[in-house]
Formats: sequence, C-alpha cells, structure tokens
Amino acid sequence: MESKRSSFSGKIGFVLAAAGSAVGLGNIWRFPYLAAKYGGGIFLLVYVALSVTFGFSLMVAEIAIGRKTGKSAVTAFGELDKRFSLVGLVASLVPMLILPYYSVIGGWVLKYFAGVVSGSASAMASDTYFGDYIGKVGEPLLWFALFIGVTAIVVLFGVEKGIEKVSKIMMPVLVALTLFIALYTIFTVDGAWEGVKYYLLPDFSKFSIMTVVSAMGQLFYSMSLAMGIMITYGSYIKKEISIEKSAKQIEIFDTGVAFLAGLMIIPAVFAFSGGDESALAQGPGLMFVTLPKVFEAMPGGTVIGAIFFFMVILAALTSSISLMETIVSIFMDKFKIGRRASCFIVLGLSVLLGVPSSLGYSLWSEFKIMGMQMLDLFDFLSNSLMMPIIAFITCVFVGFVLKPKTIIDEVTIDNKFKWQKLFSAVIRYVAPVCILAILVSSILSAFGIIKI
Ligand code: TRP
Repeated sequence: MESKRSSFSGKIGFVLAAAGSAVGLGNIWRFPYLAAKYGGGIFLLVYVALSVTFGFSLMVAEIAIGRKTGKSAVTAFGELDKRFSLVGLVASLVPMLILPYYSVIGGWVLKYFAGVVSGSASAMASDTYFGDYIGKVGEPLLWFALFIGVTAIVVLFGVEKGIEKVSKIMMPVLVALTLFIALYTIFTVDGAWEGVKYYLLPDFSKFSIMTVVSAMGQLFYSMSLAMGIMITYGSYIKKEISIEKSAKQIEIFDTGVAFLAGLMIIPAVFAFSGGDESALAQGPGLMFVTLPKVFEAMPGGTVIGAIFFFMVILAALTSSISLMETIVSIFMDKFKIGRRASCFIVLGLSVLLGVPSSLGYSLWSEFKIMGMQMLDLFDFLSNSLMMPIIAFITCVFVGFVLKPKTIIDEVTIDNKFKWQKLFSAVIRYVAPVCILAILVSSILSAFGIIKI
C-alpha cells in the first residue's frame, strides 16, 4: 500500500511538472496564429494526427532514454552510444535559440498586462495599437529586459520551486478563463460562429506541405520535444511510473490548452474583422490584436483581461525559467563554472540575441535573412530546422541503433505498453521518412528553390 501511494503521487508530480514546462506561450500565443494562418480545421486535424503518432512516440522515447540512463540530454546520448554524443549537445542548445525571442514575446505580454491595469484597455483595442507598439524602439526593449531579468533572478536564486507552486494553482484558472472567454465570444459576438466553423471543420483544399511543416514544428515546440527537455525529466522518474500513460496525459493536457486558446482567438478574429480572411494571416501579433477587442466588448472585460494576461505571464515565466535553467546547468557542467557565472553568460547571450529580435519590428525592420526578420529567423531555425533534424536523428538512433526493443523494455519494466506496435512502426519508418521529406521541402522553400 505504502509504496503504491507514493508512486502514484510521484506520477502526478511528474506529469504536472512536465506539463508545466510544456504549457506556455507556445500554446496560447503560437498555436492560434499558426492554426489561423494555415487553414484552421485542416491544421487542427494534422496537428492532432501528428500528436498521437509522432508526438507520442518521440515523447515515450525521450522519457525512456532519460529514465534508462538517469542522465540529462547532454550526456544521455553519449552514454548509450559514443557516436551520438553530439546530438545531445546540439539538442540542448536549442533552448538557447528559443529563450531570447520567447522573452521578447513575454515582454509584449507584460506590456499588455500593464496596459490593461493602467486603464489603456480601449486604446489597446484599436486596430493599429499593436503595430505601433512593436514599431517603437525603446519600450519593447524595456519590457523584454524586465522579462528576461525576472527569469534570470529566479534562476540565479533557484527559487523556481516557489513559482512552480503558484503556477500549479494558476494553471487551472488559466484554462477556465480561456474556456470562458471562448464561450463568451462564440455566444455573444456576431459573426463568431463562422470562425468556429473555420477552426473546427477541415477544408482539404487548404492543405499544403506548409501545413504539415508548421504543425510538426509547433508540435515539437509546444511539447518541448527534440531539445532534450523530456530526457532530463525522464531521468528523474522512478521505474514503476508508466511512461506510456504519462506521455499520453502530458499530450492531452498540452493539446487541450492549445485547442482552447485557438477557440478563444480564432472565432474572435472572424467576428472583429467581419470575416476578412487576411486578418487570419497576421502571424505573431494575432493574440495581441484580437484579445483586447474581446475584453473591450465584454462587461467587466478590464478585470477579466487583467487576470487573463497575468495568468499568461505566469505560464510564460514558468516556461522561460525552465528554458534558462536548462542552459545554465549545461554551461555549469560543460565549462565547470558556478551557477552565478553561468547565469550571467546566459543572460548576456539572451540579450545579445533578444535585442535584434525585438528591433526587427522597428529600427532593423529592413534587415532580413532569407526574407525573415530576426524573431522569425530564430523561430524558423529552431522549430523548422534544428528540431526536425534532432527528431530525425533521435528516431534513427532509437529505431536502428538502440532498437525499439530497448525502449519497450524500459517502458515495460513495471507496466504494460499498449501502443508498442504503433511506437515501433512510427519511430523506425513513418517518422524518419516523413520528417526527412518535410525538412527537405522546408529548406528548399526557405531558400526560394521551390514554392510550397
Ligand atoms: N513548450 C513551451 C511552450 O509551449 C516552450 C518551450 C520550448 C519550452 N522549449 C522549452 C519550455 C523548454 C520549457 C523548456 O511555450
């Protein structure tokens, strides 16, 4: 009895911690704008299909590698096979590319929270507010500095446990609020039903390779896959915990929050743009343009808006802290330096990469690489390039070097593995072939060689 109970609470703790790392701006900010841009229902369908196949298999593989070796990603691959040491290192560096621009977006959320609280809610609901705001030089930089600064302080003093506790209570509130805002918009604002249909009914004529490319990048990003995070989490769990069930729960939670965020934002875009489809293709600004309008239209919207943005700040902070913590501990181990020194180096690098990401909308908007300004470029490099490459190598490694059986043995130490046939087939054949095809087409299109 005793040991059963403790392993149960151990599992809940693990699932919540992994879900806390996974749920962040990726779900609330990134998923809705991608879904809106890439065809709504068809994107949702492709995303869910990829999630139960690729996402599931990769998540199981990563957690099992972590638990088997008891090591974080940097050394786990090398421990299993020397030739693959580099993959672990490269995977662990992906967070360094994500953290700076993640913090720029985090800064935007801080600004919107401050704006709602200080009474500029109606100004923020205008069409041009967001564009004007990110077009400024100084102010977005200050909010970015505040966001990355708070993240660094938490990591420096190692008080993330406190923040995590708070966010575990806040997370259900965030989910409830998202649902409430979605239902409110759908049932009270004219024209929102059109958006619900766009979001839920797949239109196959909108399908393109880009739908799959972006859905797959989003899947990795949102579930913190292909960057070593789940390996590290896996290294902390006990043998009696079911990896299969945990992976499924993390996925359901993460995809559920993303789904609700889309339901909150996409119908609102329809309603407020009068069904103008070009409003859907706005990209990163979508949430910031649409939500203030929803709050403006809602009785008590200022209070709800303030609470909402506050929750998003917390979700973003728990993710940015976990991103930074990952890099800081790698630098500590690799360069044999202390937490403090490592923290300052990572902070310095983040500022160095974050400033151009922020200025890409103002001072340096003319400066583009492969047609992308800096924020989009970092996003592209990590999500569309490095993560698919790492995922591909992980699949080949697990499928042909380590063999699926090694993972299955780890998963079945104390539990059943119901989907093991699916797992083996996906990790060996389906995933590597698809990822490679997708990767090649996204590289060719980035260089303008093919148009997809
Ligand atoms: N998954 C997080 C989100 O959806 C973002 C993220 C990517 C992340 N990589 C991470 C969070 C690593 C923590 C650790 O917002």
